[in-house]
Amino acid sequence: MKKLNIAIVGLGNIGSYLYKYLIKNKKILAKKNNCIPIIKFISAKSRNRKRDFKITDKIWLNNYLDAAKSKEIDLIVELIGGAEGPAKKLVFDALKNKKHVVTANKALIAKYGDVLSKIAEKNKVNLEFEASVCGGVPIVRSLKESLIANKIIKVFGIFNGTSNYILSSMDNQNKNFNEVLNNAQKYGYAESNPSADLNGEDVAAKLKILSSLCFNSFINHKIHVEGIKDIDKEDIDNANKLGYKIKLLGFSEIINKKIYQRVHPTLIKKSSYIASIDGVLNAVIIDGKPVGRSIIQGEGAGPSATTSALISDISSILRGNIKFPFSISNKERKKINFSEIRERYFSAYLRFEVKDIQGVLSNITKTFANNNVSIKRIIQNPNKNKGSSSIIIITHSSKDKSLNKIIKQVGNKYFIIKKPKLIRIDDN
Ligand code: HSE
Repeated sequence: MKKLNIAIVGLGNIGSYLYKYLIKNKKILAKKNNCIPIIKFISAKSRNRKRDFKITDKIWLNNYLDAAKSKEIDLIVELIGGAEGPAKKLVFDALKNKKHVVTANKALIAKYGDVLSKIAEKNKVNLEFEASVCGGVPIVRSLKESLIANKIIKVFGIFNGTSNYILSSMDNQNKNFNEVLNNAQKYGYAESNPSADLNGEDVAAKLKILSSLCFNSFINHKIHVEGIKDIDKEDIDNANKLGYKIKLLGFSEIINKKIYQRVHPTLIKKSSYIASIDGVLNAVIIDGKPVGRSIIQGEGAGPSATTSALISDISSILRGNIKFPFSISNKERKKINFSEIRERYFSAYLRFEVKDIQGVLSNITKTFANNNVSIKRIIQNPNKNKGSSSIIIITHSSKDKSLNKIIKQVGNKYFIIKKPKLIRIDDN
C-alpha cells in the first residue's frame, strides 16, 4: 500500500489531539483511503510543555521550517495559528516546495488564501482548510463536492460558538457577560484572546472564505462587521417579548449580481430554525439551486470536532484527490462586485434611552419621518425612579443608510441618556 509522510506543526490542544488520533486510527484510515498515513515529524514552540504523550528525538523537529524543506515530507498540517509570522512562513514555504498543506487557520486563509491557492494550483498540491470554518461542521467539502451542482444564492448562519454561547446563556441562565465568557474559555471554545470572538472578526474571516467558495469569487474584504459587545440583557429581554432571539449571524448573499457580506447581531423569529441553535453550536445554512435550502449544524470548535475536519482533509489527500483549493481554478474565479450594506433594506429594532419629558416621542418619530423610515411598532417603558424612559421601535423595511442616520441624529438630541441601539431583523 502507498504511504504518505506527514509533519504536524503546532501541538496545542488541537495538534495534540490530532497526533494521538492519527496514531490510534492509522490502520482504519489506511484501509479507508488505500494509503497509510505516517507521522514522520512533529514540531511546536516548546518541546517541554506538559503533554500526555512522549516525544522521541526521532520524531521531533527543532526547526519547524525544516518540515517544508524535508524530502521525506509529503504533507504539512499547520496548527500554529495567526495570519502572519511562523504560520504564514511555513505554509508559503511548504506550498512553494510542493508539499500538500492542511490548515485550521482561518485568519491565514481569509488574508492570503488567494495567493496561496495560486501557488498550490501551480505546483499541483492540495491546500485544504475544512477545519478553518466552523470546526467539525463539514461545510467546505460540502460546497466543493457534495453541493457542486448548485448555484448558491445565499450562505448564512452561526459561525462563532463563543458568542452564541454568551448570547444564549445571557438569555437562558440570566448570567452576566463576563461570567459566561469565562466558561467559554474554560471549555476551550473562546480564543485565548477572545476579542475576535466578540467583535465579529472571527465570523468575518469564516464568512470571507465561505463567500469565495459559494460564489466562485476571489476573497473580498468589503464586509460590514459588528460584534456582540453592545448587546445588553435588556435587548435580549425586549427581543423575547417581541417574539425574537438575538444571534450573532454572518450573511453573504448575491443580489442583482452584487455580493453583500455582513456580520452583526440579528433579531430572528423565535420560531425560526436558527433561533433554536443554542450554546457553542454552529449552523451553516445554504440556499442554492436546484438543491433548495441545506443546513449543517454541529460543533464549531474544540479539539475533537476540529480533528474530525482535519482528518477529512488528510483523507482527501491520502486518496490522491487533488482539487482546486477554492473549488474552481484560479483562472475561472470571478471578480464580482461586493457592495456596502448602506443601500440594502432591513427592518430593524431601535432602542432609545431618553429623559422622560414632554415632546420626546414626537421629536423621535419626526426624525423617522424625515428619513423616510416607517414605524411598525413602538413600545415605551418608563422608569419612574430615574425619570427616564426606554423607547423601543420596530421599523418596516428601510434603507440601512437611513436607519443609521436616525441613530446619529437622535443620538445628538438633548434628551438622550445613552447611545441609541440599532439591531437589524432577519425574517428568513
Ligand atoms: N473561537 C471560535 C468559536 C472557534 O468560538 O467559534 C474557532 O474558530
